[in-house]
Amino acid sequence: MIADETQTASDEAPLEIPSNSIKLFGGTIMSPIRDPWPVYRRLRREYPVLPIRGVFGVEHLVTRYDDVQTILRDPVRFSSRANARGISLVMGRTIIEMEGKEHVRNRNLIAPFFSPRALREELGEMLRRVAQELIDPIAEKNSAELVTEFTFTYPLRVIAMIIGIPIGDFHSFHHMALDLISIADNPAKGLEAAQQLAEYLSPIVAERRREPRPDLLSKLVHGEVEGHRLSDEEIISFLRLLLPAGADTTYRLIGTTLFALLTHRDQFEQVLADRSRLQSAIEETLRWESPVQYVSRETTEDLTLGGIKLAAGSMLFVCVGSANRDETHFPEADRFDMQRRADDHVAFGFGPHFCAGSHLARMEASVALNALLDRLPNLRLDASQEANVVGLAFRSPDRLPVLFG
Ligand code: HEM
Repeated sequence: MIADETQTASDEAPLEIPSNSIKLFGGTIMSPIRDPWPVYRRLRREYPVLPIRGVFGVEHLVTRYDDVQTILRDPVRFSSRANARGISLVMGRTIIEMEGKEHVRNRNLIAPFFSPRALREELGEMLRRVAQELIDPIAEKNSAELVTEFTFTYPLRVIAMIIGIPIGDFHSFHHMALDLISIADNPAKGLEAAQQLAEYLSPIVAERRREPRPDLLSKLVHGEVEGHRLSDEEIISFLRLLLPAGADTTYRLIGTTLFALLTHRDQFEQVLADRSRLQSAIEETLRWESPVQYVSRETTEDLTLGGIKLAAGSMLFVCVGSANRDETHFPEADRFDMQRRADDHVAFGFGPHFCAGSHLARMEASVALNALLDRLPNLRLDASQEANVVGLAFRSPDRLPVLFG
């Protein structure tokens, strides 16, 4: 991601971008960057709305909590149709780029499947079953690498069951979902994954047209929006959104919560002594190392944001991860502290596009982490191996080598 030297965000004084911040992070949007926080800290202080040259042209990187809130609360002036120029190129047209009534009607097709009511009994049981199946072979050993052996595939198994998609090889399927959302780094790979997913899903969609079941896919196939059934293309686009949204986010949350607890032993002890504290640890992890760091928006009129004039049609790279580390809103924001009860973090966004799967994500994380703590006594990081939380667009531990028993 490169800051743009020539572009000025205002038609008045050009922004002075010091040469040492031209290359902001020294990597691309999907690079395993370890510590973007000092850059964000400086941007929040000096350049809260910074023009950068992204893959899709000039965008403005927004880093302060208050500006991020202003954007997310106002879907009229800051439209989600920005996604049509980015992720929709591989997913197709989905709710994340829709606005107003069209957005509400389409979102209502899936929302009941992810509501707290729908998620209670049977789902809790299903989550515990999936978690136990993955933990069984791990519990027979004394050590494991929990990203590969547990966190990477658990949420994909769950979302595939809820949607009603049979998946043979979860690892390669998840890699395909990851390739899809890496379009900014590798457009050819992203488009190829989009095509592969369509080929995999088309026969399953056709089967549900013939024979509905009580799953989300049947609802998409047989449900109506304004008296119209969704076309195959619309359904496949929905699935191309739901699969990575469900799989690639929660695995990061579970891994980072584990990392946070295993590197903050005092807080880990508190969780072990009182499991109800786990929810606070998950919530603080969402703030401290937000799994999804950016959302996209586009201005619909000329306006001023963070003191910078923006023309209508400006693309915004809205950094919820930086907002959640804003020291003017969260005191000692870089510290992982599950006592702080930061229930106003923006890790799931805010407003009409607020994450449709937030209840599911929290429940999945809670079931998985409880199961791991139950089954793997004396859990600790293997100090002889390195593990770090990495990433720019998405963040989570690259690996979690642990010892137990
Ligand atoms: C820790 C896990 C998760 C995080 C951090 C996360 C984060 C987000 C964020 C930040 C947005 C807002 C996008 C925007 O405003 O443009 C969003 C939207 C969305 N999320 Fe999640 N998500 C998570 C888990 C899930 C799960 C498990 C699902 C289940 C399918 C899901 C489905 C969706 C959908 C469908 C949207 C689009 C909502 C809309 O445009 O109306 N997410 N998510």
